[in-house]
Amino acid sequence: MNLKGRSFVTLLDFSKEEILYLIELSARLKQEKQKGIPHKHLEGKNVVLLFQKDSTRTRCAFEVGAYDLGMAVTYLGPSGSQMGTKESIKDTARVLGRMYDGIQFRGYLHSDVEQLAEHAGVPVWNGLTDLYHPTQILADFLTVKENFGKLDGINFTYIGDARNNMGNSLMIGAAKLGINFTGVAPKTLWPESHLIEHCKALAKDNGSTIVFTETPLEGSRNADVIYTDVWVSMGEPKDVWRSRLGQLHGYQVDDKLMRNASKNAIFMHCLPAFHGTDTEIGRQIAKEFGDEYKQVKNGEMEVTDSVIESGQSKVFDEAENRLHTIKAVMLATMSDNH
Ligand code: CP
Ligand code: NVA
Repeated sequence: MNLKGRSFVTLLDFSKEEILYLIELSARLKQEKQKGIPHKHLEGKNVVLLFQKDSTRTRCAFEVGAYDLGMAVTYLGPSGSQMGTKESIKDTARVLGRMYDGIQFRGYLHSDVEQLAEHAGVPVWNGLTDLYHPTQILADFLTVKENFGKLDGINFTYIGDARNNMGNSLMIGAAKLGINFTGVAPKTLWPESHLIEHCKALAKDNGSTIVFTETPLEGSRNADVIYTDVWVSMGEPKDVWRSRLGQLHGYQVDDKLMRNASKNAIFMHCLPAFHGTDTEIGRQIAKEFGDEYKQVKNGEMEVTDSVIESGQSKVFDEAENRLHTIKAVMLATMSDNH
């Protein structure tokens, strides 16, 4: 499998075999890390990480992954570089491409990461845009594979804001890999219809289905995986909370919903998650909307604390897998030695 020189901006650009290869390579790198086998295959190379939005997992996975591969890293945060204010994305791409061997971008517009990839001359990796979050999907599917020993034919239910970067990317990944995907959300929060239709056609070729429902108990029946994400994403205005709570308060993942899924179902979430009052936003929402919506009065929003802390929850394995999968993406796109 030769992916050298390729950018990783959306799973739509990758074949089933290529995605499966990246997951397999991730599992191999995870084992090597656990056994203490060094894998500094990219010694002497340099990567730059551009973040217009904050991050814990993605940033740390790229940094530790790069160090494990023997590389040096520059982090440029939401402020502190010329990008976007004094310098265009196109010029930034051409400058950084002369200095670095790979570029990670997390930001708002998906067209920005596409422009970087077009003009940098080195691999560009999408660490999240408003539209897609493809590196997260590799970690999610590695976690599913670790739990069920397969991906083909798994019943995967995504509940919540189904038209955000996670909803879109999970649907695409599922369609490519033959996973049965059920989206559960009010119709106003379903992905764009052209993307759903495209994914339905891909899924059909791969022997799986893409379906949507507005009813949580219907959509979670027989699910092997119940997945959710925050109800308001980074970059959305604060005043969107009121209407989003109105749309999604009935879509919280709680013990009742988990009991409705398959007996061996697992719970997943890309994190960060709101499941209590130990975050600033959790406290604010509980205070402002707790009287109106009983679901959020303890700061629990898309998922209850009880589900996240249960044995069915795999969220921290999933978070760890960001490291191994991001490392695989860097290695596979920068070298043919793996
Ligand atoms: N899941 C994820 O992308 O987390 P961060 O925002 O912490 O990178
Ligand atoms: N949908 C979330 C994903 C965070 C990893 C966001 O964009 O904020």
